[in-house]
Amino acid sequence: RFGWYKKMREESPIHFDEQAGAWDLFLFDDVEWLLKEASLFSSERPTLEGDVRSLLSLDPPKHTQLRAIVNKAFTPRELEMWRPRIQTLVTKLLDDLKGKDTVDIIRDFAYPLPVIVIADILGVPYEDMDKFKEWSDILVEGPKSMTAEAVESLLTEKLAKQKEMYAYFDEIIAQKRKNPQEDLISVIISAEVDGAKLADNEIRAFCKLLLAAGNETTTNLIGNGMYCLLEDRSIFERVNKEPDLIPGAIEETLRFRSPVQAINRFAKQDIELRGHSIKKGQEVVGWIGSANRDETHFLYADTFDPARQQNKHLAFGKGIHFCLGAPLARLEAALAMPELINRFPDMRLPENLQLEPIVSGFVYGLKSLPVQI
Ligand code: HEM
Repeated sequence: RFGWYKKMREESPIHFDEQAGAWDLFLFDDVEWLLKEASLFSSERPTLEGDVRSLLSLDPPKHTQLRAIVNKAFTPRELEMWRPRIQTLVTKLLDDLKGKDTVDIIRDFAYPLPVIVIADILGVPYEDMDKFKEWSDILVEGPKSMTAEAVESLLTEKLAKQKEMYAYFDEIIAQKRKNPQEDLISVIISAEVDGAKLADNEIRAFCKLLLAAGNETTTNLIGNGMYCLLEDRSIFERVNKEPDLIPGAIEETLRFRSPVQAINRFAKQDIELRGHSIKKGQEVVGWIGSANRDETHFLYADTFDPARQQNKHLAFGKGIHFCLGAPLARLEAALAMPELINRFPDMRLPENLQLEPIVSGFVYGLKSLPVQI
């Protein structure tokens, strides 16, 4: 992947992919520009049948109105409230691993953590966590191959899961309407846009987005982060001795092994980009994973350096759609990683470890990360 990005940055940084019928951008400046210029590029992606668009796939003014409803809940200050709860969860998940020789950092820890946290914030019972995980995984999944059959069968599966999930949320929404709580779903239900409350299908789409956007991404941040420390174990030892490096290691993971590798937009008009003509309506993909390795922006871009000074990466996007959950993801990683290191200071990768990467062009992470402790 990273070799391909490098080649594309050198040979064809603005590339039209005939097969996908979409433009690919590989340079930092171009990807940043794509994400920032919301007046030139639309986020209105096609949706699943019968679905309304959520925040992530809306343009202003609707995007601005919906974002204002949830912004406050995700500020670093507001999230401080969740710190003790997340800390307790981290401790509990790790307590459950006592006495083992090998633990799977992803399956046993980084996978359950974010889904329990978001369930709490939304105000849904976390006994239903297995269902959420199943729904959120399938909804972000890409087809195993690009054959019409594979695409069609995944779509059918997604629609079935979505139906199940919406029925579940309808019940929760009805309960909270009758009996509002302090949680985020209650906030969304009571919010007004242009003097009117949101329709049920809009509330459902909101719940679906909040549930799905942060799970796999945060799992992969923690998994990729621990892998970056262990791949060259001297980095693990250094961070263990100097815990002040952990925030830097988290930012460096976001840059070096970005959980979201690409984001798309659609041209709102004909656009000239250094000799290339992007036509109105065409899809344009910004390769965040390549931008974050662009040597003209990051010194020694292919080196993982937890002490890196300038690290303005694009892992959470840029501009009006900048990741709502970035402070939450950072907080979860900042509580999880030091605790993992403290508990298992002898942790190392097993010899002959066969890595199992997630199969996807857009999501980057591992399915499992067994370590000897
Ligand atoms: C948007 C990445 C965690 C909720 C985004 C975008 C990126 C991103 C790249 C921009 C999409 C675009 O421009 O089209 C990540 C990564 C995460 C993470 C790498 C973890 C390491 C979370 C969490 C939540 C979340 C924990 C939980 C609430 C959202 C939402 C948006 C978004 C709601 C849409 C914002 C908007 O359109 O205004 N995320 N995300 N994300 N993210 Fe995250």
